[in-house]
Amino acid sequence: MKDLKANPATTLPLDTIGTIAITEIPVEQKKNAKQLAQEILAANKHLQSVYEKRGAMHGEYRVWKLRHLAGKKSTKTTYRESDCFFELDVARVYFSPRLAFERSRIAAQVETGEKVLALFAGVGPFPIIIAKKLKTQQKTADIIANELNPVAVKYMQQNIALNKVSEIVVVNKGDAKKLLKQKKKWADRVITPLPHTAYKFLPQIIDATAVGGIVHLYGFGSHRNEKTKKKTNPFRVLEKKIKTECRKKKRKCKIIFKRVVRPYSPFSVQVVIDFAVK
Ligand SMILES: C[S@@+](CC[C@H](N)C(=O)[O-])C[C@H]1O[C@@H](n2cnc3c(N)ncnc32)[C@H](O)[C@@H]1O
Repeated sequence: MKDLKANPATTLPLDTIGTIAITEIPVEQKKNAKQLAQEILAANKHLQSVYEKRGAMHGEYRVWKLRHLAGKKSTKTTYRESDCFFELDVARVYFSPRLAFERSRIAAQVETGEKVLALFAGVGPFPIIIAKKLKTQQKTADIIANELNPVAVKYMQQNIALNKVSEIVVVNKGDAKKLLKQKKKWADRVITPLPHTAYKFLPQIIDATAVGGIVHLYGFGSHRNEKTKKKTNPFRVLEKKIKTECRKKKRKCKIIFKRVVRPYSPFSVQVVIDFAVK
């Protein structure tokens, strides 16, 4: 018991979203899960609840199955990032604080007057952070924020009002493909934070991008060969997909930036590739 108090709670992986901590408990510590969760609460006074991830993220809406471990039994919270507030229910929508750097990286690039397609927008962090930044600088843009999950759409509408950016961000509910098909050569910028399958939307994304527009494409790549354990290029497969689809569409594409967003599994990482479409 003494050891338990001294160490494991602090070494557990934690995502903190507002007043909620979401953790993963290793198999050998499962029997102490509730006590570890109490220790997390004791060590972090701003937290009110601890939940455990159960299995992989599931479904089209990319939502976690969660088990309550300690504190208040509520999955609703308010999260703050880049001077914006986001109300959300962590059990019914996707949200990751780990994309904060990406959101501010892209927000720093958007120029006044741009037309932006913020696809797979969830409760709105990408479009709202971009809009708030522009508004603070007395700039504007035309952002369409698309999302399929009706619960996330409801929260996104709420968050647009909460952050007072309704003159910049308009919500589009439904499948991103349907929206993309209606927006031929419209977008100066397309943001695609659905790393598992964003590449499948590439033909429609390229069609929707204006000449000179930029696409931020998220995906996964392996950074180490599972058998040989040798390092591999995590961007290779996604780059190839971009080149192939651009060629098919007879559009010239130039890769302008790439980075590893975060580790994902022992052999894979989440990546982003920015490319310009001519
Ligand atoms: C990984 S989450 C990203 C959410 C948000 N951008 C963020 O950073 O927190 C991907 C989102 O895409 C939505 N989604 C999945 N398939 C979609 C589709 N075909 N059209 C529109 N949205 C979709 C999911 O419901 C989910 O909210």
